[in-house]
Amino acid sequence: MAIASATQMLIDAATGKYCIGAFNITCFVQMEAVIETAIEKRTPVIVQTSVTPAQFHTPEVIVAVYRTLAERASVPVCLHLDHCEEIDFCKRCADAGYTNIMIDGSHHDYEQNVRVTREVADYCHKLGDVSVEGELGTVGGVEDQISVAEDEAQLADPKLAADFVNRSGVDLFAPAIGTAHGVYVTENPKIDFERFATVQQIINPNGNIRIPLVVHGGTGLKPEVVKRLVASGGAKFNVSTDLKHTLIDTTFNYINDHRAEYNPGRVDKAVKNAIKQRVAYYIDLLGSEGKAK
Ligand code: 13P
Repeated sequence: MAIASATQMLIDAATGKYCIGAFNITCFVQMEAVIETAIEKRTPVIVQTSVTPAQFHTPEVIVAVYRTLAERASVPVCLHLDHCEEIDFCKRCADAGYTNIMIDGSHHDYEQNVRVTREVADYCHKLGDVSVEGELGTVGGVEDQISVAEDEAQLADPKLAADFVNRSGVDLFAPAIGTAHGVYVTENPKIDFERFATVQQIINPNGNIRIPLVVHGGTGLKPEVVKRLVASGGAKFNVSTDLKHTLIDTTFNYINDHRAEYNPGRVDKAVKNAIKQRVAYYIDLLGSEGKAK
């Protein structure tokens, strides 16, 4: 049985200076591809859904498929709800069996962000081993139903970080540091490594990891950037856009090349193989291969 909550998995990662891939899926072929790759690479892994696919498939169905796949996996697998702004939907997903919930209160003013995050954290902690991620500052770009213009994105204020973590009760903390959702518009996005390291030192002083840090906007970051973020204590690394593009491009190319075939199983197979290659690329980059206990 490999159903797992994220907190301990991510504390182990940050302590061991590697990072866990958190992959957004929109369909079950992608979920199978992520979990199969994790098994092959012997790594813990996080499967995540944004709100739209969770609403479309329903949290209960997603959890049923997740549990079936995770229970027979030989590695720990979490199921995370990504960037949910609605308290009630966070609670529904936690009730259904998601193991981690991200309440995204970053569009609120600071005090309201603390309040909504606290409400979800208290609810999830009462349910049991359900961990909660909160965000301070805003991540630019488009993620599912949330769109933040790059020039309106605000980096996390390190001075508020400890207060936010303590008062909101989160288990995982996502400070905005200049990464963005979607495809980066510039070749060298300005990532504030210093801010990230400062936040890490404030929240988890001297490498004593209590609240692991999350990196959003994983698609398109150069390998040297990713490695630097991992070395600075990034414990969870979110990838979404890459897997969406891989799904669409592979489907399009397969059908284009096999126009007369009409064999959906072969399209699924092509998609699964392509997703597995992308997931393997990130696992290698994040250094988590072989880390499943
Ligand atoms: P990308 O879409 O840039 O991969 O970002 C994923 C993410 O951070 C999801 O929360």
